[in-house]
Amino acid sequence: MTLPIFPEEASKIAEQTDNLYWGLLCASAAVCLLVFTLMGYFLLKYRNGKNVDRKPVHLPEMKIEVTWTLASLLIFMCFYAWGAKNYFLIERPPPGAMEIDVVGKQWMWKIQHPEGNREIDQLHVPLGRLVKLTMTSQDVIHSFFLPEFRIKQDVVPGRYTTEWFQADKIGSFHIFCSEYCGTSHSRMVGNIVVMSPADYQTWLTQGQPGNTLAQSGERLFRELGCSGCHVGKSVVRAPPLEGLFGKPVPLNNQEVVTADEAYLRDSILFPAKQIVGGYTNDMPSFSGKISEEELLQVIAYLKSLGSQTPVREQ
Ligand code: CUA
Repeated sequence: MTLPIFPEEASKIAEQTDNLYWGLLCASAAVCLLVFTLMGYFLLKYRNGKNVDRKPVHLPEMKIEVTWTLASLLIFMCFYAWGAKNYFLIERPPPGAMEIDVVGKQWMWKIQHPEGNREIDQLHVPLGRLVKLTMTSQDVIHSFFLPEFRIKQDVVPGRYTTEWFQADKIGSFHIFCSEYCGTSHSRMVGNIVVMSPADYQTWLTQGQPGNTLAQSGERLFRELGCSGCHVGKSVVRAPPLEGLFGKPVPLNNQEVVTADEAYLRDSILFPAKQIVGGYTNDMPSFSGKISEEELLQVIAYLKSLGSQTPVREQ
């Protein structure tokens, strides 16, 4: 259901979020109506000067208390379950989504597509495809808000947050920053442009990025000297990176972590934090030497190695 006071519904999740909102609104309205109707009735019935029976009544108070407490508990638990269902849906990106990187900085949104296309304050996406955003901030906390899609997620420096959606309406919709982030916070706005898959392909090729995200990452991997230790038969013994992404990694302290984006990011910026079992920490920190966008490019490259088998055994 849409009213003109609501933003348009442009994603699959939007309708479900609105339904919950309407559900809560209706429940509150029903209670409000009941309370005010009874109030009006008693005000009129027992008003001053009216000849009515004013003797005290004896009610089964315990029964009434227990009944209304249990009834409201039940109603609220239903809303809780409904909300939790929506929350899990929104928080868990389904597999097979196309991945787009978002970096927030004072005061703009920087977007990188896997094909290498980049844009600022604009996000072009194809209609009907699952899109997963991996987001981080270069400075302070921002929040990536797509009102017509009914999704909003904090974008936090030092970590990756994700958000996913499936656009089901062609058109141009709002991007807002919804976390106060400094002087020009209110101007940290943009557009998400939903195109037909064919138009999106045309748009991608028009941008002519030259290098895909993973290719840019590979170039950085060489330029920053990572390949010197991590590739093939290098002299320094560093853990192989082929086939690493998404796999469990046993650490020196007996812990086992999953090689996800956050793990790769930490290993590049803070190599001493988690050391792979059987290795010593010989790696310098790249903190301050690599930008957030470059980090995402290197990670895209490491992800692309995820399906390969290691060149050498550790
Ligand atoms: Cu970025 Cu507010």
